[in-house]
Amino acid sequence: MSAVARALAPDDDVLAGLRASPKRLPCRLLYDATGAELFEQITGVDDYYPTRIEYRLLDEILPSVAEDMGAAARVIEPGAGAGCKTRRLLRALYAPASYVGIDVSREILEQTHRTLARELPTVDVQTVCADFTRPYKLPAPRRSIGKTLAFFPGSTIGNFEPFDAVMFLSGLAHMAGHNGRLLLGADGTHDPEALVRAYDDSDGVTAQFNLNVLDHLNRTRGARFDLAMFRHRAVWNERHSRVEMHLVSQREQTVDVGGAVIHLGQGEPIVTEHCYKHSVQAMRSMLHAAGWEARQVLTGTEQPMRLWWCAPLVRPVQTRTGL
Ligand code: AVI
Repeated sequence: MSAVARALAPDDDVLAGLRASPKRLPCRLLYDATGAELFEQITGVDDYYPTRIEYRLLDEILPSVAEDMGAAARVIEPGAGAGCKTRRLLRALYAPASYVGIDVSREILEQTHRTLARELPTVDVQTVCADFTRPYKLPAPRRSIGKTLAFFPGSTIGNFEPFDAVMFLSGLAHMAGHNGRLLLGADGTHDPEALVRAYDDSDGVTAQFNLNVLDHLNRTRGARFDLAMFRHRAVWNERHSRVEMHLVSQREQTVDVGGAVIHLGQGEPIVTEHCYKHSVQAMRSMLHAAGWEARQVLTGTEQPMRLWWCAPLVRPVQTRTGL
């Protein structure tokens, strides 16, 4: 491969990130099969509060969601995952007609398809194997449908940079259409102690989840990271209102990453993920910019993890004055 071709290779955000300052790795590297399994474990540890709270809020909001959606809804879910929240939602709706799950993992999609077909045989299940942060084509519904609901729980919106979050939410508005709805989970916690505990849990699962990024690069890119030479660290960045996941080099070292030499100083971090914690005002204005208006916001009592129930924003008609 020529130097130019190598420089333009799609994976080169990896090398570009490792050569940047501060060093960064794309957070998609966290979610290979091992990472997805570890993330499932994280959602069950005591220190990681968002999932626990969101389940409670879902139970609270679902009756009014069902009422508003009416019969024959279509549910679209980017990042379908294990589908536990999906099943709760579909069971609460009145005779939902259609479900579309989008996920990078074919295995997860097949599993979701099987489970839904068995448990909710009247719902037409369609799957799209794609990275939902990039453009993909939504399949046409195969039966007559009522309103469309975009379902994006889990506070994954916090893993987008704010501008990308607005673009993504605006894509969902386009997909759901003029009569569509959005059910969004977003964490707004700003308590540094609770956050560091949640992202550096005492069971060490998040540490394993983060270190798996290096293992992933060793397996897929012929990198030679020694995992024992890195420590997981979670940092609350108040200024940017985000938790940062770091892998901190335990000594000065050079690492071969598929033929490229990367130098790390002692104590130097590699940033692997940003988890933004949006305040009510910040989330509201992002939704607004994306074409959504919040109709109902439920907030957890333990921490301000929130569920946002949104409808398309009705923009005031522009009138020209002074003519
Ligand atoms: C997937 N996402 C919502 C998780 C979060 O809380 O931002 C990812 C995560 N990273 C570490 N723990 C959980």
